[in-house]
Amino acid sequence: MIFRQLYEPLSSTYTYLLGDEDTGQAVLIDPVITTMERDLTEVQRLGLNLAYTVDTHIHADHITAALEMKRSVGSKIAAPAYDRLPCTDVGIEEGVPFQVGGIILQPLHTPGHTDGHFAYLLNDRVFTGDALLIEGCGRTDFQNGDADALYRSVREKLFALPDETLVYPAHDYKERFVSSIVQEKKRNPRLGGDKTLDEFKHIMANLDLPYPTFIDYAVPGNRQCGVCPPDLPENLANYCRQMSGSPQG
Ligand SMILES: [Fe+2]
Repeated sequence: MIFRQLYEPLSSTYTYLLGDEDTGQAVLIDPVITTMERDLTEVQRLGLNLAYTVDTHIHADHITAALEMKRSVGSKIAAPAYDRLPCTDVGIEEGVPFQVGGIILQPLHTPGHTDGHFAYLLNDRVFTGDALLIEGCGRTDFQNGDADALYRSVREKLFALPDETLVYPAHDYKERFVSSIVQEKKRNPRLGGDKTLDEFKHIMANLDLPYPTFIDYAVPGNRQCGVCPPDLPENLANYCRQMSGSPQG
């Protein structure tokens, strides 16, 4: 399998490129509209055809490239069925493997950051979206977020995976690239060790984070599988502008 971890600097998002060498089919997990051209160039450079894009959840910090990639190269749109987005071609459900060529993702419903959030398990690695970040987790104060649910998703579902499973998150803000289940069990300051549900809820209720800059545009845009709003203010224009640069940023 061909594997690339691609980085989008504006929202510090990781997009994952998975390619099946036998069929030439590729899938992108959480592609971002600003780096769409770069990512499509990378797919092409590797001799692959983009069969699908798949999102882990409805993002609040960037616009997904799903719809524009579909328009550009004909890729199909997969997203959690839970969110009932009319623009998706395939609704992801837990217990139903999602297959692209020889690549088989096992969807894991991991609510808490959003209610429809999914992680995707692929053999020795798991794409954790915003449910589990490296020594962190996604916030739970918007989009039907729920700290109780996130605690259960991480502790009961993700931490139940084999210790050596590699953790590839949807974001990192400190130039870290990969973790593992055992590392997060031991070192995650919010969810690791013997942290109780009450302790976790206390942490999440006292993060004191600012209102997300782009959420009022990103969520409606992503509910349409990636539409840039026509009324975007100038100070947010970069969120819909193509970025140049290398895949590693
Ligand atoms: Fe998110």
